[in-house]
Amino acid sequence: MEKKPAEFAILKIGEKEIRLPLVIGTQGERGIDISSLRRDTGLVTIDPGLGNTAACYSQISYVDGEKGILRYRGIPIEVLVKKVKFIDVAYLLVHGELPGADERKKFSEMLNLNSMMHEDMRHFFDHFPQGSHPMHILSTMINAMAAFYPNVDIKSMADNIDTSCARLISIIRTMAAFAYKKSIGEPVVYPRHDLSYCANFLNMMFDSPVRPYHIHPEAVRLLNVLFILHAEHEQNCSTTAVRAIGSAQVNLYATISAGISALSGPLHGGANQAVIEMLRMIHEDGDVDKFIRMARDKNSPFRLMGFGHRVYKTYDPRAEIVRNECDAYLTLINHKDPLLDTARRVEEAARKDSYFVERNLYPNVDFYTGILYRALGIPENMFTVMFALARLPGWVAHWKEMIGDSTKIIRPRQIYIGRNEIFEHEIENRNNPQII
Ligand code: SDX
Repeated sequence: MEKKPAEFAILKIGEKEIRLPLVIGTQGERGIDISSLRRDTGLVTIDPGLGNTAACYSQISYVDGEKGILRYRGIPIEVLVKKVKFIDVAYLLVHGELPGADERKKFSEMLNLNSMMHEDMRHFFDHFPQGSHPMHILSTMINAMAAFYPNVDIKSMADNIDTSCARLISIIRTMAAFAYKKSIGEPVVYPRHDLSYCANFLNMMFDSPVRPYHIHPEAVRLLNVLFILHAEHEQNCSTTAVRAIGSAQVNLYATISAGISALSGPLHGGANQAVIEMLRMIHEDGDVDKFIRMARDKNSPFRLMGFGHRVYKTYDPRAEIVRNECDAYLTLINHKDPLLDTARRVEEAARKDSYFVERNLYPNVDFYTGILYRALGIPENMFTVMFALARLPGWVAHWKEMIGDSTKIIRPRQIYIGRNEIFEHEIENRNNPQII
């Protein structure tokens, strides 16, 4: 992708002055290209957390954190959730365009063709200890796919990206449902070719030989919305992990397994489960203001889970859609969730509090999603698994873009602040430690 520098930044170091080209993205974002900095000056930049550093050029999604904008391949999420299904968005992210009728039919057939995992993999579930967190199971099982589906070299997987992508998107859904069934001691339910992606997942989760599950169309619609909202979010922690691991030319399964592990952290995808645990604690205590005070208190480890974001300094547009769906869906199923009332009280108190206002801390995608997962019957320890299922196409799209753009391994520099050299005689003088 040609980047024509329109302007330059001037860096003055002592008497030396160098010009660094500015690059400008299609939405007007500007960056300083420092790719020649160390060669020209011997200097590196330092940016812990990389909050000021663009790691790559990308065409997959666009986030404007100040305006609360999120678009996948140029299409606003508000349009996507109304117009298409999750598998259309998966295709859009990986291929850059929404599928036409033929592409959708072919992709849907590939998802069906790849919906069953290797039967030998099914027996893995018998050996995870009871109570294993499904995210740990998922990360292990996806990594193990490299043993069951050979031809994992980068070229084969990229040349057959549709198969690789369909296999991952489809099998991870089966693995997730199997992990849940095993955790409750029920027989696993196999995927069906006559059901859509989301209907299949709900059926595999909740159908049983003695209690047939009624697939409610509104639940299927809602799950499509939730999966679409979680499908992609530019250079977040787990996507950065996927790009970094993938840059070493690790096979796609191991790369995605790393993304699942990164997502499981409570500061990232694990927050949706932590939010519900927090809301339950606040609901049982009753004193919302006490928890707002704790969240402000630097001496308290308590943080308001589901609030704040590295990029969004306004309401996360995904949280807006989810919050509105909470009202609509719970009314439709005539269900009241006391934790939704608590969530609203927490949001109201935080958004009036100077600490949160000054830091632009708003609800993020994880703040209300747990309410909807509860209404769908999804158990809390599966909330982050839902995030992983949804984020898969985003991870695959970034892996494909990264291997297409560059073969350079991702290897940042550092500023060393450790000891000066310790010489051999200094070691010998220290009570003659054995030098290995
Ligand atoms: C996701 O990156 C992505 O795109 C991620 C994601 C995706 O789609 O992939 O959007 C999904 O991970 C959403 C985030 C889910 N995590 C949580 O809800 C956990 C709670 N949130 C925080 O831990 C925090 O807001 C982060 C981790 C989300 C962002 O952290 P940053 O950008 O490093 O912000 P920071 O820690 O530097 O905070 C700035 C200030 C600090 O106070 P000061 O030092 O300025 O006094 O805001 C405070 C923080 O203490 N702060 C909070 C807070 N979040 C930030 N204080 C209390 N509660 C919070 N939740």
